[in-house]
Amino acid sequence: MYRILQRFTTIEIKRRGVQAIQCCGLHELNKEQHNFSNENKSFKRTRNILLGAVVGGCIGYYFIEKSKLVSAEEIKKYNNDEPGSFKEDLPVYNLEDISSHATRDKRIWVTYKEGVYDITNFIDTHPGGDQILLAAGSSVEPFWLLYSIHENPHVYKILESYRIGNLNKDECNNLTKDMTDPYFNEPKRHNALKPASKKPFNAELPPELLIQSFITPNELFYVRNHLPVPDLKAETYELEIEIEGVKKTKSFRLEDLKKLPKKTITATIMCAGNRRSDMIKHKPVKGLNWGPAAIGTATWTGVPLRDVLISAGLKEDDDKFKHVQFEGGDSDVTGKMYGASIPIWRALDKRGDVLLAYEMNGVPIPRDHGFPIRVIVPGVVGARNVKWLEKITVSDKESDSHWQQNDYKGFSPSTDWDTVDFTKSPAIQELPVISAICQPSEGSTVKVEQDKITVKGYAWSGGGHKIVRVDVTVDGGKSWHVANFEHQDAALPPQHWAWTIWTVKIPVDKKSKNVEIWAKAVDSSYNTQPESVENIWNLRGVLSNAYHKVKVNLKR
Ligand code: HEM
Repeated sequence: MYRILQRFTTIEIKRRGVQAIQCCGLHELNKEQHNFSNENKSFKRTRNILLGAVVGGCIGYYFIEKSKLVSAEEIKKYNNDEPGSFKEDLPVYNLEDISSHATRDKRIWVTYKEGVYDITNFIDTHPGGDQILLAAGSSVEPFWLLYSIHENPHVYKILESYRIGNLNKDECNNLTKDMTDPYFNEPKRHNALKPASKKPFNAELPPELLIQSFITPNELFYVRNHLPVPDLKAETYELEIEIEGVKKTKSFRLEDLKKLPKKTITATIMCAGNRRSDMIKHKPVKGLNWGPAAIGTATWTGVPLRDVLISAGLKEDDDKFKHVQFEGGDSDVTGKMYGASIPIWRALDKRGDVLLAYEMNGVPIPRDHGFPIRVIVPGVVGARNVKWLEKITVSDKESDSHWQQNDYKGFSPSTDWDTVDFTKSPAIQELPVISAICQPSEGSTVKVEQDKITVKGYAWSGGGHKIVRVDVTVDGGKSWHVANFEHQDAALPPQHWAWTIWTVKIPVDKKSKNVEIWAKAVDSSYNTQPESVENIWNLRGVLSNAYHKVKVNLKR
């Protein structure tokens, strides 16, 4: 587009040139006509001038017609070109080149589809302000899913005017070269994901962005990995199913699973450690310092687990089995795979909607989220939604995996690492009701408009419960304001799997310079959140669902 614009500019110059010739000719002619009438100059001179004007006009006509032809071609070319499509005459850059341009001194590059853009000179005039910097060195696409105002020819035109190159699509699954590093083959992640740890990769979005959209774009969905990401191939993938006591196991290839009747659900997945940072403020815990964005909502398409188990030979009324164990394709240095299990009743419950999902938001599940198959256990902690699923075992026992037995369990605030006995607590399955204030974020400055501030966040409850109310206060609970639901899924409990996005305008004291906002949600079983983090603190920092409290400054 830059080149097209350049050529349009040239054409424009040509046009102006022609106009100049014409004007000049006409001007000359007028001038000479004036002279002719007033000074009666010779016919020869007039003839020459007329001839000049005609020749000038012809040249002008030629250039105008030529420029019309060129611009028509160019316009046609431009119209045919999708924004972000590959442009033969521009250089190709790989992802490393692009991510190295993420600061003003190195210039700020972004990508859109196959286009690479240097947007440094646009940043200060961007109508959306500094937010644009979130895409620095990375793709703008996931943000534009959040802010669909950008799906507009006027925006594409601006973007294309900053075009500098093409993205090397073959390198999108950029690999680091150090083969001795178990993390040498990690997928490329979006810069907007803020890592809580890099190896294994665990990251979440800034909370203000999280709630811009009911469905979280795949690239911005929080990532919770325990081990290096396996690189499974669709063509060679096989899922093994073992029913204990039955000698013969059954295998399904990806295409076999895709042939079975499919189902799509909208479900929120949350890490047990979401909002752990609130617990850490009270007392240190062992665990990643997650903020309130270790949660996301997507549509998941796949085949119901119960159908696959039944087609593998499991009898629905066979009550000797109690659990369904899952094993991922991610292994530790000893070769031990990530694993977890769920109770069999949930796996077989038609209303449980447990899926062997192969699509996330309508596309194959990205590597970071479990390609090619992730078991989606809606309403249940993320840790049981095993990614890169390679094996299912129907058993009378829970998974013996570390993550089922010695992690993801809750304890009393008085239990410490000397007294903890992991065998005494059940593995977390359904998650309790939670809410979070995402906008404004902690420590930010909020504009007071008509004596009110706008507060926005999410609320969700595990086990298929629906959120029925969110209460928000800015005066320590003296007065509560009921939030409006900006987006809530129509599904009824106990199959209400997705979060609710809420918003509320709250009056603030005319004199206050800052306030502490509190939010709490109530679900369809009238479960609500505990008031203080102190009384639910636990040594692993899981299930941190106390009232969410955010301190902000006020600007008038
Ligand atoms: C780099 C390419 C980008 C371009 C060319 C661009 C361009 C624009 C334009 C022209 C508008 C005004 C649209 C209108 O009112 O019709 C706009 C608004 C906005 N943009 Fe961008 N933008 C870019 C990237 C981003 C990114 C990466 C984000 C967020 C992370 C973002 C967030 C916003 C927001 C929040 C608004 C204001 C929306 C509103 O007022 O409702 N933009 N942008």
